[in-house]
Amino acid sequence: MYEFLRRFNFHPGKLFLHKLVLGIETSCDDTAAAVVDETGNVLGEAIHSQTEVHLKTGGIIPPVAQQLHRENIQRIVQEALSASKVSPSELSAIATTIKPGLALSLGVGLSFSLQLVDQLKKPFIPIHHMEAHALTIRLTNKVEFPFLVLLISGGHCLLALVRGVSDFLLLGKSLDIAPGDMLDKVARRLSLIKHPECSTMSGGKAIEHLAKQGNKLHFDFKPPMQRAKNCDFSFSGLHHIIDKMIMQKEKEEGIEKGQILSSAADIAAAVQHTVACHIAKRTHRAILFCKQRDLLCQSNAVLVVSGGVASNLHIRKALEIVTDATQCTLLCPPPRLCTDNGVMIAWNGVERLRAGLGILHSTEGICYEPKCPLGADISKEVGEAAIKVPRLKMKI
Ligand code: KG4
Ligand code: ZN
Repeated sequence: MYEFLRRFNFHPGKLFLHKLVLGIETSCDDTAAAVVDETGNVLGEAIHSQTEVHLKTGGIIPPVAQQLHRENIQRIVQEALSASKVSPSELSAIATTIKPGLALSLGVGLSFSLQLVDQLKKPFIPIHHMEAHALTIRLTNKVEFPFLVLLISGGHCLLALVRGVSDFLLLGKSLDIAPGDMLDKVARRLSLIKHPECSTMSGGKAIEHLAKQGNKLHFDFKPPMQRAKNCDFSFSGLHHIIDKMIMQKEKEEGIEKGQILSSAADIAAAVQHTVACHIAKRTHRAILFCKQRDLLCQSNAVLVVSGGVASNLHIRKALEIVTDATQCTLLCPPPRLCTDNGVMIAWNGVERLRAGLGILHSTEGICYEPKCPLGADISKEVGEAAIKVPRLKMKI
């Protein structure tokens, strides 16, 4: 750490008028850091993605992720700081993801940050990864509280009402796996990594790419949980149905597991559409619930969608149909800020600094928390309201 800090001894001699926060993210498979100022200017950022390594092993192996974080964290933080031309002594605070996420991954970011905080004698701001995803939109757009947020990625799936910087109402979440996780599993089962056009893509992206060449009507997968009138999600059952269908198709086409089906594009199109309809329906109900309870601004209700799966244009179109029908505004951060990154952590630090919330001057006893819900869970109340969602034509 001493050596690390010594490199910054050159002082750029620049005067920063605004507070500056260094954000560090290692909750899953991206080692990321950024320096953001109080006004939302991104002064420097760096990221090391482990996706390629995990694609080869067919999923994240936590000790491998930990090792890669260890190998990269110092370089990434240094790159972000150097790019920002901010010397560590000029920072106002250090913000780091401490929950939720993979224990081994979170540990690397936290222990690195604590050493830095200790050496620099700076305040520490522990960050909830989902809170950071949810607040990112306020860095890029003028969005006031309250707003509704849908977070969909490989590890997350939730709908929440954001009432303030650390004031969330959880309306619904996935009861099993996240949509990105399911799309990754289906892509792996379809061996899309062997497909010449998809070999370097994440599972979800490969499905989206292939779906453009397929006909979604060739398969009829039903959206999950049609009778449960709540805002929860489920993707495991659908995953198993698709798995069975793939097995049946392999038999029909007389091919071995591991070869690409001629109907792969049709399956991809149908899977993507079913996932889109499921997500759209739950989100539609969340909007109606919030409007019914006067929880959202009546004249300008905002739905924010973020996470890796939010970059899927078919899913976005399905959500657009919902926001058009409910007179809401749909907002998505740019793709690089939808996926895990350091900017969102630094920005969450800025938001907390401005609100005077959760700024620690002593880090004694601070621990990472692999599991940690977001806000107050009112999903039961949402289910009890049993709101019937009007059918919308998903003409995409
Ligand atoms: O937010 P993210 O980078 O990481 C976390 O999971 O937190 O999201 C990655 C997930 C993966 O499951 C990936 O397959 C999915 O997002 N994804 C997509 C698309 N691009 C990435 N899913 C659907 N369509 C896409 N275009
Ligand atoms: Zn994330």
